[in-house]
Amino acid sequence: MLPPRPSQPLLALVFALALLVALVVPPAQAAEPTLGELAAAKGRYFGSATDNPELTDAPYVAILGSEFNSITPGNSMKWDATEPQRGQFSFARGDEVVALAQRNSQRVRGHTLVWHSQLPGWVSNGGFPATELRSILQNHVTTVATHFKGKLAHWDVVNEPFNEDGTFRDSVFYRTLGQSYIADALRAARAADPAAKLYINDYNTDGLGAKSDGMYNLVKSLKAQGVPIDGVGFQGHLALQYGFPYKMQENLRRFADLGVDVAITELDIRMNLPADATKLATQATWYSDVTKACLAVSRCVGITIWDYTDKYSWIPSVFPGEGAALPYDENLRPKPAYNALRTALGGTPGDPGPTAACAVAYKVESQWNAGFTAAVTVTNRGTTPINGWRLTFAFPGDQKVTQGWNAGWSQTGRDVTAANASWNGTLAAGASASIGFNASYTGTNAAPATFALNGTACRAS
Ligand code: G3I
Repeated sequence: MLPPRPSQPLLALVFALALLVALVVPPAQAAEPTLGELAAAKGRYFGSATDNPELTDAPYVAILGSEFNSITPGNSMKWDATEPQRGQFSFARGDEVVALAQRNSQRVRGHTLVWHSQLPGWVSNGGFPATELRSILQNHVTTVATHFKGKLAHWDVVNEPFNEDGTFRDSVFYRTLGQSYIADALRAARAADPAAKLYINDYNTDGLGAKSDGMYNLVKSLKAQGVPIDGVGFQGHLALQYGFPYKMQENLRRFADLGVDVAITELDIRMNLPADATKLATQATWYSDVTKACLAVSRCVGITIWDYTDKYSWIPSVFPGEGAALPYDENLRPKPAYNALRTALGGTPGDPGPTAACAVAYKVESQWNAGFTAAVTVTNRGTTPINGWRLTFAFPGDQKVTQGWNAGWSQTGRDVTAANASWNGTLAAGASASIGFNASYTGTNAAPATFALNGTACRAS
């Protein structure tokens, strides 16, 4: 039996209600694209390294899983993790990273099969003759690459084979086997996992120079011999105090012209601490410049940062007094570098959202035909006190501050700075400062769109 037909008046009421809902309820705001999505729109990936101990940190894992479309295990696929004793393999931690990536639909860059560091003593101090060491190397590469077969997009097969002058590093492998260990490792990896793109990876090869010439000559000769090599990784461990890599884009391009992919594999940009707004702004420019160099080279397939938050950076323990190298601070809040990355990838600066370090309430209290008074409340949303602050924002129109209070006000063009007064420079966690100004304007008096405190974007509240 057919269900009873709704009456005409009832239908009319349903349509009227539907129309009302469509008119009154605004459409759900489209989420801002993530770094991974922005990179994907350019045919690239944007990834982060991670490490197993960090995976119990839920807020950290949430950003790792949503913002990036590639991850790399920082330690758990290295030789000391996967074959700590001869013939005894252990994949649990590498598997954990792969499983996490699969849950988040991320690709994985495998890192790394053959490296002089984090190499167990049984290999480095074993005193093996060449034939035996070759078979140890081949067995390691074959067993590890077979275990992860089909699950990894890339493998850093050989890591850091060069000295700074472009000669081969004196590792146990080079000492015993000569440079042939590199071709052996690549061939064994290809045989074990034919789908993974095979990379050689190194640092201080980002720009033109002796070390990158060494890498260039190696890759050229491997290609000429038909050795399987698909890509070259440029780690990108940069430091503000040493300058930007020389002609990075040109360098990436010359490798691509050899017929290999290139990737930025371990990007971080450290500075001498303490960080300040100027250094963070320079760092942001560098992140943008690296990204632009990659986007300018069609075979530059993606960028990985060496973890995404200063909370888990390797830098402070290795370079005391240096740090702040990543696009998120220690409290998982985006730094200026994060917005610079977004912009370089073709997006717009992201809404720092509920995790922002600061909140700014901007209120026009009174307005007359050519002027207005605004009250601004700056709140420290972090967990530590802020000692000394500078609030920056830009007027969208021709507004001009004529007089301000409770802060030192200055304006250049549309850019306004309010520096704390002597009595309100310390903002305890959760504390606010109330400041204000009078200004002139013509036309429309629209509010500034974004605010930053000491260079870090704030939530508008
Ligand atoms: O696992 C032990 C732990 O048991 C012990 O309690 C602890 C005490 O120090 O050390 C732990 O090992 C540390 C390991 O990371 C895992 O956390 C090592 O000391 C530490 O040296 C090691 O650092 C790693 C470093 O490689 C080693 O060279 C970093 O996390 C890792 O990010 C870093 O990554 C390298 C790339 O693989 C290659 N390019 C350079 C990059 C930065 O150095």
